[in-house]
Amino acid sequence: MNSSWELIRDYMRNINFIRHMYKILTGFAGFMYDYKRFLAYGGWQENMNDIERRNYQQVYCYHRLEKSLSFKERNPNSGWRDVYELLNLLNIAKQSNSIGYHDKASKQILEKFIALPENINLEQSQSIKKELEKFDFNSNDIHGAMEYNLSHFKKGKLEQPEDFFLTRYSLREFQDKTVGDEIIHRAIRLAMKTPSVCNRQAWHIYHTSDKEVKNSVLRYQNGNRHFGENIPNLLVITTDLKAFFSATERYQHWIDGGLLSMSLMYAFHALGMATCALNWSQSPKNDKLLRKIVNIKPDHTIIMLLAVGYPDENNKVCLSARRPFEEIYSTLENR
Ligand SMILES: Cc1cc2nc3c(=O)[nH]c(=O)nc-3n(C[C@H](O)[C@H](O)[C@H](O)COP(=O)(O)O)c2cc1C
Repeated sequence: MNSSWELIRDYMRNINFIRHMYKILTGFAGFMYDYKRFLAYGGWQENMNDIERRNYQQVYCYHRLEKSLSFKERNPNSGWRDVYELLNLLNIAKQSNSIGYHDKASKQILEKFIALPENINLEQSQSIKKELEKFDFNSNDIHGAMEYNLSHFKKGKLEQPEDFFLTRYSLREFQDKTVGDEIIHRAIRLAMKTPSVCNRQAWHIYHTSDKEVKNSVLRYQNGNRHFGENIPNLLVITTDLKAFFSATERYQHWIDGGLLSMSLMYAFHALGMATCALNWSQSPKNDKLLRKIVNIKPDHTIIMLLAVGYPDENNKVCLSARRPFEEIYSTLENR
């Protein structure tokens, strides 16, 4: 006869088997969902008549020229492929009457590139110069490369970095007061200095302080029980799949979006605002349901949500102690 311990053990084995199968199958469904989104919205389609897709391609190319312009010792043969690609994209923009920010940036960088001492007298530079004269627009911003000295660099040095980094906590309860657009926009502008792959900046942030909209979004998020109702401002942080061109970039939107998310939290912290990240580790079903009720563009992948509010005078937070340093650090060595 089986002992009760054996019965419990068999029962647990069966339950675990079902749980594990469930995870494997839902994991597969999740990967398929991501793959379908990559097929439907990824930048691999190279449709340069789509302005957004073209703009990502332009940033990709003109950033490579910016890099070339910034090297102390540059290879004089480098960059020409990007030059011709940018010229082609400028012509597409002109033909479709859709000149925008990135066309102006492209033109300015091309002008700087062909004006380099090693390029200026080349025949190809002369013909590119003539080609560029066809485009009668200029950028108001400065693009290319710039001098950047040590005193400029050191402006970012904090006397006590611990005061900044170790005072950020996730707050889940806030003052009953909405954060104004001025602060929200400022934090976003600060966070936009986040680095991104080839400077593509594929981010898009949706913001609401409308209780009804906020609650309808939070209904599909599973980490806001007990505090979601009183969140004053909610951001949905997304990245645009269109910005990523190749299969090797299949995870880049999560990475670039994650980096922006952290910068945003630090930007709010620097402005005296409290935040709590809210995961969007969601099932395909909930991701689709959310897209039915709010205006998130289909090519925008939701990275996470962010609750923002004014901290109270006295708050209670989770300690969330950090793991021992040795657990997360090793010296990298050859095998
Ligand atoms: C991507 C991400 C998703 C998170 N999702 C939730 C969430 O759904 N609900 C919640 O209460 N906290 C959430 N958190 C907050 C974490 O629990 C918190 O950052 C962690 O415990 C460390 O604490 P600290 O932020 O106070 O340092 C999330 C954090 C991150 C980075």
